[in-house]
Amino acid sequence: MYRSYTCGELRAAYANSDVVLSGWVHKVRDKGFVVWVDLRDRYGITQLVFDQERTEAALLDSARELGRETVIQIKGKVIERASKNPNLPTGDIEVLVSELNILNPSLLPPFTIEDETDGGEDIRMKYRYLDIRRNPVKNNLIFRHQVTMEVRKYLSNEGFIEVETPYLIKSTPEGARDFLVPSRMNEGQFYALPQSPQTFKQLLMVGGMDKYFQIVKCFRDEDLRADRQPEFTQIDCEMAFVEQEDILNTFEGLTKHLLKEIKGVEAGDFPRMTYDEAMCLYGNDKPDIRFGMQFGELNEVAQHKDFNVFNSAELVVGIAVPGGATYTRKEIDKLIDWIKRPQVGAKGMVYVKCNEDGSYKSSVDKFYDQEDLAKWAEVTGAQKGDLICVLSGKTDETRAQLSVLRMELAEQLGLRKPDEFAPLWVIDFPLLELDEETGTYHAMHHPFTSPKPGQLELLEKDPGAVKANAYDLVLNGNEIGGGSIRIHDKEVQATMFKHLGFTPEEAREQFGFLMDAFQYGAPPHGGIAFGLDRLVAILGGQETIRDFIAFPKNNSGRDVMIDAPANIDGEQLKELHLKLDI
Ligand code: AMO
Repeated sequence: MYRSYTCGELRAAYANSDVVLSGWVHKVRDKGFVVWVDLRDRYGITQLVFDQERTEAALLDSARELGRETVIQIKGKVIERASKNPNLPTGDIEVLVSELNILNPSLLPPFTIEDETDGGEDIRMKYRYLDIRRNPVKNNLIFRHQVTMEVRKYLSNEGFIEVETPYLIKSTPEGARDFLVPSRMNEGQFYALPQSPQTFKQLLMVGGMDKYFQIVKCFRDEDLRADRQPEFTQIDCEMAFVEQEDILNTFEGLTKHLLKEIKGVEAGDFPRMTYDEAMCLYGNDKPDIRFGMQFGELNEVAQHKDFNVFNSAELVVGIAVPGGATYTRKEIDKLIDWIKRPQVGAKGMVYVKCNEDGSYKSSVDKFYDQEDLAKWAEVTGAQKGDLICVLSGKTDETRAQLSVLRMELAEQLGLRKPDEFAPLWVIDFPLLELDEETGTYHAMHHPFTSPKPGQLELLEKDPGAVKANAYDLVLNGNEIGGGSIRIHDKEVQATMFKHLGFTPEEAREQFGFLMDAFQYGAPPHGGIAFGLDRLVAILGGQETIRDFIAFPKNNSGRDVMIDAPANIDGEQLKELHLKLDI
């Protein structure tokens, strides 16, 4: 038997018990006549004691020589500590060791296994198994497990069945590139790894499964960011005989359950906002509504006053920054430089200080009097003491820039509180999105999303105006889930493919299986998928999903620990019928 207790278990009530513990040497403190060793495992730390009076000399010497991270087993007696450590759950006791077995020595770790480590990101990723021994990483993985368990519990109780779908499939378009896998047995042919199980879950509805879910890996070859990994996990769900309202209610239920069970937060009904409203009020389809700073459109009150920058702009729009009137000239200039960086791309910024005495001071006083500026304050909701920041230009670009500024200012002002949760449904997304470069439309969600009732005809006339039965769940400014009511009619699906630029032959070749299935009694159906990594990170009060994934990829899509992707040898290439011209 390696252990009778874990290192997080013993309390004063165990005093005088004989115990066996196993774990890692966390720290050795050698005071000469006494040696203390902190023994660590997943459950905690227990202090071991060896001393001149009560421990054999040879054993005391062995204790002195223990290196960090050595794996040991000890036998000993629990004793109540004279000076207790209230910061440690096991701090009332220590174990007087009578036997020590070294199970496995350890090299000196390349960074300290402490909550605040001296290891940089790269080295911790290379030795991720050591990083996982640290509390912050370990606790994130345990937290993820808890969220996952609650998801399974809730959905099972609601009658959902978890079904696995294949990973070696044909392309499922979700807007990213596919990862491809060459087939040895089928020369020159490739599988694609699923960007999502979208078509399979729809086929499960045709198969009569009624309510499906799966906690499933998805693969997307796209540029990486803090909230994106090339392989990530979805809570993928689908239901038959449902309308949008049924889906929103069911998954609002799941999200409320998680907030309650995981965070102890009782959330009220989630607000809903159309895509158009979100773009107008926040310049963004995933607004963070933990704080206000809504956009105020100023065209009417700011144009035709000799200020040409505004007069020639498609949109003049501003936000009120709480307490911003105290910003110094230097601080404002810094802000302006920040939004002029190529990453944001604004040309400049007009500002108005709303002074405590009710007067206004703006950077465009030459063109606007106090009465004009009072109107700006009214439209943006600015109070005495606030700063109004105004951008202008083309509508989409200007909204995007002001949205970035809004988030940055909120961050600086501490308005993005990690322990506050503000969920929001964004609904009525456009069905199609225009690709400015190619001038063609592609599906904003995916090609299986149904247009809003009665809008099919509009597809011919004004494709960009057609709205979809599609919705996103946004939490604290992050898209944590998205879904839609699907097309279940073969003809409608064929029309959709036509508008997305597929010839009938291409549609047949890629999605014939789905169109065929629709002819055998496909029920009306719809669903949603949550990004589990994002959901867990946000519930954990963070936004970097890497910290909640056991073995994540770096920003270049590499696993630096196992060194993947890697070259493969000539023999393997030949077997796969692949030739590389390097
Ligand atoms: P969608 O593409 O919106 O929908 O994906 C669903 C959710 O998955 C998360 N997500 C990601 N998380 C981490 N890294 C990525 N690279 C990544 N890409 C997406 C997001 C997103 O909201 N089949 C549809 C769902 C449906 O229609 O039912 C789909 O995949 O949180």
